[in-house]
Amino acid sequence: MIPEGSLLAAHDLRKTYGATPALDGASFSVHPGEVVAVMGPSGSGKSTLLHCLAGIITPDSGTITYAGRELSAMSDAERSALRRSDFGFVFQFGQLVPELTCVENVALPLRLNGVKRKAAERTAREWMERLEVEDTAGKRPGEVSGGQGQRVAVARALAASPKVIFADEPTGALDSLNGERVMELLTEAARSSNVAVVLVTHEARVAAYSDRDVTVRDGRARDLEHAV
Ligand SMILES: Nc1ncnc2c1ncn2[C@@H]1O[C@H](COP(=O)(O)OP(=O)(O)OP(=O)(O)O)[C@@H](O)[C@H]1O
Ligand SMILES: [Mg+2]
Repeated sequence: MIPEGSLLAAHDLRKTYGATPALDGASFSVHPGEVVAVMGPSGSGKSTLLHCLAGIITPDSGTITYAGRELSAMSDAERSALRRSDFGFVFQFGQLVPELTCVENVALPLRLNGVKRKAAERTAREWMERLEVEDTAGKRPGEVSGGQGQRVAVARALAASPKVIFADEPTGALDSLNGERVMELLTEAARSSNVAVVLVTHEARVAAYSDRDVTVRDGRARDLEHAV
């Protein structure tokens, strides 16, 4: 049921919103260090799948296993702690805290994990250098470009050494040049740190950065690893 060696695996997820089935038997898995693109048309259930995998929403049925532990067997507090310690997130936009500078934003996950400010900001700056946005450190998110903002968000997602990054249309608001640079830097950093990436996109040129594609249609994910 769980593909061997996978870090995060979902089996037969179902989730209904009123009469709308968002997930209708979706299975998925990702290995450490693997970048998997979740593709499919609008409304097919991609974001719902990502939110279930990240423990943000609970499916009506089906199982999700992370590092050998069943998400549904954890308490809400345990799931939140897991999200903070093991998961990083990059969304389309609006994820940076507008009142904080970019370096404070990148340092935030470390601070939430109990790292002292100076050490957290030092690590944050290292990641910002890697993502080529060190010059935005003292600026607020409203003062940087869309492409810079997304690279700051990627730096923040990576800063606390997560095991999995969940990215939902991370380049959706960018032009193709900026989008490709963000994808290049995200996948390069993830692969070199052995971080798994669950990448939701409907763009083939973004999915081209992945190791593998999973297509979602009408709430059903076709993960070839689960083919019988
Ligand atoms: N919070 C919600 N309340 C009600 N219906 C929802 C909710 N979230 C999703 N849905 C419905 O579930 C289905 C799947 O939505 P989902 O957001 O997962 O699609 P998606 O593949 O991410 O689409 P997009 O590419 O447009 O982001 C859609 O029919 C959507 O309208
Ligand atoms: Mg979506």
